Amino acid sequence: MRRSSRWYVKPGHEADTGTTDAADVHPDCVLRLGLDVEAHGQMFTPRPIGFVDSPYKDTAEIPKGLGAKHEAEGVLRILPEFELGLTDIEGFSHLMVIWAFDRSHGFDLLGMPPSDNRPHGVFATRSPRRPNPIGLTVVELLRRENGLLHVRGVDMLEGTPILDIKPYLSSVPSETLRRGWLAEAENRAVSSHREAAGVTA
Ligand SMILES: C[S@@+](CC[C@H](N)C(=O)[O-])C[C@H]1O[C@@H](n2cnc3c(N)ncnc32)[C@H](O)[C@@H]1O
Repeated sequence: MRRSSRWYVKPGHEADTGTTDAADVHPDCVLRLGLDVEAHGQMFTPRPIGFVDSPYKDTAEIPKGLGAKHEAEGVLRILPEFELGLTDIEGFSHLMVIWAFDRSHGFDLLGMPPSDNRPHGVFATRSPRRPNPIGLTVVELLRRENGLLHVRGVDMLEGTPILDIKPYLSSVPSETLRRGWLAEAENRAVSSHREAAGVTA
């Protein structure tokens, strides 16, 4: 099934939407992330260390936009040859999962995220359509069963290839964290809700 999503719409190119093609990519697919150094040598060719068991079979099922919460539970199924690398992971409450957008094709340097009606640069967003299609999701580790990491907070599709896992160690104090255009979009949404409800400041 071919399906479009707002992430795939270039500003001013409504007809030229990219699509994600859920049917034609298998989890065992060869990753297209071989990184070119000066378009000649390969830096490295990533390989999956495992795959995500996710409740989401289609991008349309994944919460998007302002206020979207990612509380879905899933399993990071780590391949047996990498299981030793999970030693001592149980002590961490949250993990950073680095993964491949294996069902997105191509990229847009400017795009309209679901959380705003204004275009932003790809590196100022979490768009799946990126030059190197790498995703990063922070999940809560619920429990480990050998090579299975039961987690909360998945926003990836079933069968998504996992490239790496690292413990999440938050070090940015909230008072120094700036959230850029997203904070502005949230403020605009709050104002328009207030206006709609007839609330005056
Ligand atoms: C906005 S991205 C954010 C992903 C990650 N948290 C990040 O920041 O890199 C999440 C969206 O990517 C899309 N997606 C999830 N898994 C995918 C996959 N395996 N291939 C392509 N697109 C995927 C879905 O549309 C989902 O809503």
